[in-house]
Amino acid sequence: MTLAGKVAVVTGGGSGIGRACSLRLAREGAAVAAWDLNAEGAAETARQIEAAGGRALALAGDAADAEQIAAMAERTRRELGPVAILVNNAGITGFTPFLELSREAILRMLEVNVVGPFLCTQALLPDMLAAGWGRIINISSSSAQTGARLMTHYSASKGAIIAFTKSLALELADKGITVNNIPPGFIDTPMLRASPVDIAAQSAVSPMKRPGRPEDIAAACAFLASEEAGYITGQTLGVNGGRVMP
Ligand SMILES: NC(=O)c1ccc[n+]([C@@H]2O[C@H](COP(=O)([O-])OP(=O)(O)OC[C@H]3O[C@@H](n4cnc5c(N)ncnc54)[C@H](O)[C@@H]3O)[C@@H](O)[C@H]2O)c1
Repeated sequence: MTLAGKVAVVTGGGSGIGRACSLRLAREGAAVAAWDLNAEGAAETARQIEAAGGRALALAGDAADAEQIAAMAERTRRELGPVAILVNNAGITGFTPFLELSREAILRMLEVNVVGPFLCTQALLPDMLAAGWGRIINISSSSAQTGARLMTHYSASKGAIIAFTKSLALELADKGITVNNIPPGFIDTPMLRASPVDIAAQSAVSPMKRPGRPEDIAAACAFLASEEAGYITGQTLGVNGGRVMP
């Protein structure tokens, strides 16, 4: 196990990609706090980690709200210890014709998908600076690399995350802390299933003829969190079955 003794926070850890990342980091030995708006989802993730012999904490809260983030950070430190790994995964999506987008819808998208990762990182970075070691892994989206019809607000928010990754990576490069992003593409999660995407039709035109699994993202996440990935920073590691080759 490569992450024994480390504490990880996974935002949106109660479903899909966030749950898979939580389980995988725990399998590598990390104690994992799953933060999620959905209390039941977070609790189920913690239950699965503990059933496999790992250490976990489920916290219900909004990963885009400064006060709730501060409370979740405090409880995570108190119950598990200082945080070494942060996976900024919580996100929302949306499919709306551009001219029909309301200011509220645009702002909520940016609040959850962009401001949330900024605030969570600000809340937990002091632990990593104190330790001289840290891993920040941002879950962006292939839609930021290719563009996505009816998803201007979503893809713009994820493009911001790719730029955030690069700039923060430069700021932290000489402090033992790496910052990378994974842009998933077409991963079979509750988010994909709730979307208007026709999974069978998309599978037919995708190189591997199938959607990805949350575990595919989790494997990349575990690698970026590892000691071995210490010279990798500011990078975009596409996990998309060959759908996007920038
Ligand atoms: N599934 C895909 O194909 C795909 C593709 C590209 C990017 N992504 C990104 O991957 C990430 C995870 O997506 P998923 O497919 O697993 O979705 P999901 O809907 O299955 O899981 C997202 C989780 O985040 C939580 N969440 C949402 N807003 C939150 C908030 N403000 N605070 C705390 N928790 C919050 C939800 O409750 C949910 O449990 C998202 O950032 C998404 O944009 C997914």
